[in-house]
Amino acid sequence: MIQPNEVYLVMGLLDTDSIAYSIGKTIEQFGGKVIYTVQSEKFKRVFFDRSPDLTDEQKERMSIMFCDVTREDEVQRLFEQTGNLAGIVHSIAYANPKTCLGEEFHTDAQDDILLSYKISCMSLACVARYGCAVMPDGGSIVTMTFDSGRAYSYYNWMGVHKAALEALVRALARRHGKDLIRVNAVSAGPLSTKAATHIPGFGELSHAWAQISPLPWDEKNDKQEVANLAVFLLGHYSKKITGQTIFVDGGASAVGGRMMPHERPFE
Ligand SMILES: NC(=O)c1ccc[n+]([C@@H]2O[C@H](COP(=O)([O-])OP(=O)(O)OC[C@H]3O[C@@H](n4cnc5c(N)ncnc54)[C@H](O)[C@@H]3O)[C@@H](O)[C@H]2O)c1
Repeated sequence: MIQPNEVYLVMGLLDTDSIAYSIGKTIEQFGGKVIYTVQSEKFKRVFFDRSPDLTDEQKERMSIMFCDVTREDEVQRLFEQTGNLAGIVHSIAYANPKTCLGEEFHTDAQDDILLSYKISCMSLACVARYGCAVMPDGGSIVTMTFDSGRAYSYYNWMGVHKAALEALVRALARRHGKDLIRVNAVSAGPLSTKAATHIPGFGELSHAWAQISPLPWDEKNDKQEVANLAVFLLGHYSKKITGQTIFVDGGASAVGGRMMPHERPFE
């Protein structure tokens, strides 16, 4: 899977609930080294404040850099500082919940839509553009998405951005094949994180997921299953996989309608 001592950049750490944190821990379990990015110095303090379970020694050992992905100069500078990498995780999204998510799809807040597109989609291209320089012998880029094949209640513009993100994954896979850099997306079912709690109606979506998913889905503990796929896509067992969006969602995206009682013997 992951070769010991290979270095991976994991972008999008907010707290220990972040998908980025689960992916980073899983990389370390396989012997890889992790550099995390947070959005700014302030977010590093937020991370430490929200991580009372981590000892001072654990905090000290973490390698954390800063990068606001809306700033191309910061992305460029980041990759001047990381050294060579085996892979990059892009686990970043943002949309103003008041204007881009919620009960009403239509909005006048065009600047908010553009900002959320820039952060949640375009930034992956910027990361690939500058990140490819530090993967001279090839590597893997993994981003995080949510089923864009359907329109979900409340998810509104983020659903549109995720569709664009998945198209971007295919375009980047095409562009970077010659660099032996693979680009893939992990499409996760609902997971309890800070970004998720900002989605109005997330609780309902999560509840509905449990009813439509053929496999049991646990919004807390299944983060590890999502991290497992990300690490598989980063590692050497997925060498010929690129341009793909692969689902870890209990199968909800593959079936139609609620599961019936005879289909849920485990309940
Ligand atoms: N939680 C879910 O249910 C779920 C499901 C599928 C996909 N995802 C995706 O997983 C990814 C990670 O989200 P999460 O659920 O771990 O939540 P999270 O809130 O822990 O992570 C989101 C991260 O994006 C970062 N970010 C926002 N704007 C940024 C900017 N300008 N520059 C740099 N970083 C910025 C935040 O600081 C945060 O670290 C997102 O792409 C999200 O859409 C989440």
